[in-house]
Amino acid sequence: MKNNYVHGYHERESVRLADQADCLSALLHHDSIFVENSLVLEAGCGTGAQTRIIAAQNPGSQFISIDISEASLRQAEQSVRSMNISNVQFRQGNIFELDFDDEMFDHIFICFVLEHLPKPKQALQALKRVLKKGGTLTLIEGDHGSAYFYPRSRAAQKAIDALVKLQALAGGNALIGRELYPLLMETGFKDCQVSPRMVYVDASRPEYVEGFTKNTFTAMIEGVREKVINANIINEQTFDKGVRDLYRSAEADGVFCYTFFKGSGRKT
Ligand SMILES: C[S@@+](CC[C@H](N)C(=O)[O-])C[C@H]1O[C@@H](n2cnc3c(N)ncnc32)[C@H](O)[C@@H]1O
Repeated sequence: MKNNYVHGYHERESVRLADQADCLSALLHHDSIFVENSLVLEAGCGTGAQTRIIAAQNPGSQFISIDISEASLRQAEQSVRSMNISNVQFRQGNIFELDFDDEMFDHIFICFVLEHLPKPKQALQALKRVLKKGGTLTLIEGDHGSAYFYPRSRAAQKAIDALVKLQALAGGNALIGRELYPLLMETGFKDCQVSPRMVYVDASRPEYVEGFTKNTFTAMIEGVREKVINANIINEQTFDKGVRDLYRSAEADGVFCYTFFKGSGRKT
């Protein structure tokens, strides 16, 4: 998995994930409220960027948060403990080889993970096994095809497309947001619903200009510079202009839009 994960496990990516989660907290999580006393499995918790939000806002639930990366788990644990959140246990684990009994959890939460997996449907099936009958799943993903901005820029579009291609070459799918509904249905979940969450950014929302356009989205594109250039997906000049143009959309007259997709389903 480590080689396939296009964003890597370095410090800057960890800061980016935290910026993303904090900036999008209200948009993505105002309704991440679980039934009191739920046992929740968070799959692919990474460095705990979502964990600290959902665990803090559901003090009546217990969380088991797993990730394949030991190093990320250590960071997650540190971050959550520093906030005095005590309802989370962290465990190393692989979504495809879950070490839990059948039908153990009331709820499963998975965010920004399926986009990196070659077999997202199998991942959902593996998660469904450990979900109680009547239990629910929350699934959040982005879709890089939903990014548009002012001023328009061919180079910026090519830089975004380069990341989409890199992720596809690694077996992932950066356009997975639009597929959440069919994925949930094909995995046999019932009462499936997908709620699009659009981030609209202009200079009247300075916290989003910094937190989203610059520190989340453009930082993510910038972060794969070496990889997309080394893989000959895009040339250096076009990529660098693309990144400059993305930063340009964060200036006083610029606009940036992106849509996340939050899906849910119930096991019957
Ligand atoms: C983009 S990060 C998202 C982390 C976190 N959910 C967030 O939103 O900040 C994706 C995470 O999925 C983890 N991951 C990937 N494949 C996995 C697998 N098969 N089992 C468990 N975790 C996995 C990676 O180690 C990484 O921490």
